[in-house]
Amino acid sequence: MNFHERSTQAEYFDELDRPAAETDIAFRELDRLNRFFRFHHPFLSRLPGWLGREKCRRLNILDVGAGTGLLGLQLADWARRQGWEWRFTNLDANPRPLNARPGETNVVGSALELPFADGSFDLVVASQMTHHLTNAEIVTHWREAWRVSNDAVFICDLHRNAGLYTLLWLTTLLLGTERTVREDALISVRRGFQRGEWLDLAAQAGLPGAEVWHYYGTRLVLQARKQGH
Ligand SMILES: C[S@@+](CC[C@H](N)C(=O)[O-])C[C@H]1O[C@@H](n2cnc3c(N)ncnc32)[C@H](O)[C@@H]1O
Repeated sequence: MNFHERSTQAEYFDELDRPAAETDIAFRELDRLNRFFRFHHPFLSRLPGWLGREKCRRLNILDVGAGTGLLGLQLADWARRQGWEWRFTNLDANPRPLNARPGETNVVGSALELPFADGSFDLVVASQMTHHLTNAEIVTHWREAWRVSNDAVFICDLHRNAGLYTLLWLTTLLLGTERTVREDALISVRRGFQRGEWLDLAAQAGLPGAEVWHYYGTRLVLQARKQGH
């Protein structure tokens, strides 16, 4: 299997016209996997030290490609336990998963044309969304994230490597993950990234001083802040 280049294979998650019942099952399964892998950990382990605890007291956050909004739910709960208020806006191209949490601030829209004014959020995040895009689209996605942020952008996605592929192959088998989600998880690794690719894309998107780091060999994280903060 080739991990030198990003795969362009489509995922079931890319089908916006999938029957509602199937979509609901797939997103429920994704949430189950995300809870198992503690997908919110890169965020809570890094954000307070990076942004500063004072800034973290109150944050207005946009999650791009939020799916069911589980990330926002988990991070807002965690922040509440620290005595902080983190308010999330969940944006996704697919309205169906957003229906999972009707009480939240949910917006249907595209990562490539965010329906918000410049500087609307303190922090813009994306988790496991970026790999759904082509490299050209990623430049637009990151430019848009940067535009609507008044301070910080923090993007997390899968690191493309054989070890993670094997880990997911085995874990999804043992957990009995639903077939299409299992296939998508494996395609996602092949659509994932290497650090150098993200540094190049960040430069093309005009994110000054962007840092890209490995999270335990499974994920890549990009973080960038605006001048003056
Ligand atoms: C694999 S899911 C990730 C969901 C969640 N963020 C997570 O970490 O599990 C990818 C999500 O990105 C959304 N998505 C894909 N392309 C998008 C785009 N161009 N604009 C907005 N959302 C998009 C999909 O609808 C899907 O909900």
